[in-house]
Amino acid sequence: MLRILKRWLAGSRTKTSGELLEGPIPFHIAIIMDGNGRWAKKRALPRSAGHHEGMKVVRRVTKHANSLGVGILTVYAFSTENWKRPKDEVSYLMKLPAEFLNTFLPELIEENVQVRIMGDKSMLPKHTLDAVERAVNDTSQNSGMILNFALNYGSRSEILGAVQRIVDDYKNEHLQKDITEEIFADYLMSNKLKDPDLLIRTSGEMRLSNFMLWQLAYTEFWFTDVLWPDFNEKHLHEAISAYQKRGRRFGGI
Ligand code: FPP
Repeated sequence: MLRILKRWLAGSRTKTSGELLEGPIPFHIAIIMDGNGRWAKKRALPRSAGHHEGMKVVRRVTKHANSLGVGILTVYAFSTENWKRPKDEVSYLMKLPAEFLNTFLPELIEENVQVRIMGDKSMLPKHTLDAVERAVNDTSQNSGMILNFALNYGSRSEILGAVQRIVDDYKNEHLQKDITEEIFADYLMSNKLKDPDLLIRTSGEMRLSNFMLWQLAYTEFWFTDVLWPDFNEKHLHEAISAYQKRGRRFGGI
């Protein structure tokens, strides 16, 4: 709790890194990283090259967000619908977490980042799950920013799973209270994480694609035409600056 409070206070201070960032830094930033395929196509490269470049951008953005005092960075790395892609592409995307972590885990540990995973792990290939679980384990004692990978994640199935477990818990009498928003949220895959403050989607698409439907209820959205492999620190600043100009009223006045 103290750890979260310290992090939040750090994020609330005005930061000056490159262009001036005035006001609070969003505690939780969620990103729909889109446009890898188009980035590759523009360069006559295979789609895998776009994903690989996108992976490097995850590293860059993680480092920068952490230095700004962001508390949680959630990145949508693979959706439950992404299995529909050609087999080769799925298999490449499933190799990326291991490559990312094999390459960058020592630096993430040094930067005090905690790795987490949110999604249905049961369908992940063993090599993918092993790499992610090792990283989760090796960083579990870190107290810095949480890097939360949404991997084989889909919000509708997350919500259905929560409803099913609530029904089960009523039947077996583990749950006897009326369901509040807090109780429901505890059954979601994001259970212990604060809801996102800012959602970024790249590549000009303006939809949620089954991402954190419950958790994004009061999140500020920021869309950009920039393709994910071209996204950099400057764009992150633009998104945060736009967020800082929004008046968040959470339904009040
Ligand atoms: C959407 O772009 C992107 C994805 C489905 C994969 C996102 C994955 C990464 C950015 C790699 C990072 C992974 C790790 C583990 C660090 P798209 O391929 O649909 O792009 P398009 O719409 O232009 O075709």
